[in-house]
Amino acid sequence: MCPLRKGEKLGMVFQSKTIVLGVSGSIAVYKAAGLARRLNLLGANVHVIMTQNAAKLVSPLIFETLSGNRCITDTFDRNFAWDVKHISLAKAADIFVVAPATANIIGKIAGGICDDMLTTTICATAAPKVIFPAMNTQMYNNPITQGNISKLKNLGYIFAEPDCGRLANGDTGSGRFPEESKVLDILENILFEKKDLQGRKVLVSAGATAEDIDPVRYISNRSTGKMGLALARAAKLRGAELRLVLGENRLDESKIYGMEILRVRSAEEMYNAMTANFAWSDFVFMSAAVADFRPAELQENKIKKSRGVKSLELAENKDILLELGRRKLPGQKICGFSMETENLLENSVKKLEEKNADLIVANDVLQEGAGFGTDSNIVKILSRHGTESLDIQSKESLAHVIIDRLLALDA
Ligand code: CTP
Repeated sequence: MCPLRKGEKLGMVFQSKTIVLGVSGSIAVYKAAGLARRLNLLGANVHVIMTQNAAKLVSPLIFETLSGNRCITDTFDRNFAWDVKHISLAKAADIFVVAPATANIIGKIAGGICDDMLTTTICATAAPKVIFPAMNTQMYNNPITQGNISKLKNLGYIFAEPDCGRLANGDTGSGRFPEESKVLDILENILFEKKDLQGRKVLVSAGATAEDIDPVRYISNRSTGKMGLALARAAKLRGAELRLVLGENRLDESKIYGMEILRVRSAEEMYNAMTANFAWSDFVFMSAAVADFRPAELQENKIKKSRGVKSLELAENKDILLELGRRKLPGQKICGFSMETENLLENSVKKLEEKNADLIVANDVLQEGAGFGTDSNIVKILSRHGTESLDIQSKESLAHVIIDRLLALDA
């Protein structure tokens, strides 16, 4: 399970949401316990319903402790406050998640069978239903299972592709329960309601570029890629079709699931990727920290100390934002960034004008709580209409504000 780190804002959308977690008897049931805990930590109100088979594999007590709510296994259990439990949970659910889902439970749901609490409650709910199959590859590929999945998909049930890899019985194939971050990402996308970027194409650059000196050494900068990833995630949550041009970074790669990623290393590669995808895009966020210079010549072999090299000749890289600004067509909007250590406003206004950007998000990297590697940022947003100074906030929440401001220009 990915640990919940201090300051992590992943999953803001789970706050106060009622999540019914249906757990069936796959060997991956123990992973659902981690998921219940994580959702609980993210502020969700998690109610677990286990099938009898699941309860044979893992004690309901574990789910009860990790979710903070009574775990239901028996439709006829009278040992809780009186209400028609399957109906009250079905009504309260913001989302109904079946994870892990066996071929058997998928078959029962598809067949309209309601012979336990899980199948009865899912039949009664109007909430979005998301199913995470986890089983042996042959069972998953069996035409009966696939037929049941197709039937449910046509009825609006959402299915997550299982991962490929080594399964519990030693076989390798499709059927593994996905990584927790992938599960959270899928749920977050469904629960996030503001889909104001639906149908829009968003191109984001993130991270640093690395300019090779020789096969061992390179020039780069301190960018970790956090702000760019926050923008990419926010755009995706809001329904955008997304392409992320990702340079060198120090990101937790498990958090960048579910988007088209174009990996680049040098400023030249980033230039090529951004210009090639620019015509496709409606909105561009140029949040990468691009090296302004590269070594004039790439050395084929490692430079030996004995050569006594004391200086490095540099050549200037192309300015990607400047080029995109030149190519901008009516309707396209570009947001650039500005990293400064002095004369923040003056220098950033210049960038807004010279690079033909619609927005410049400017920050002083020396200010505590702003800049590289932090989870927060303190910025000024510049446009042709003026400058807005924002308070310190998480990069996740800032990403949404930046998108709001760009959308306002588009209105
Ligand atoms: N940028 C770019 N290509 C470059 C350099 C910068 O596209 N070769 C973009 C950055 O991604 C950012 C904006 O231009 O969106 C401003 O980058 P910044 O490093 O703040 O300033 P520079 O334009 O490089 O100017 P200076 O280094 O003089 O501050």
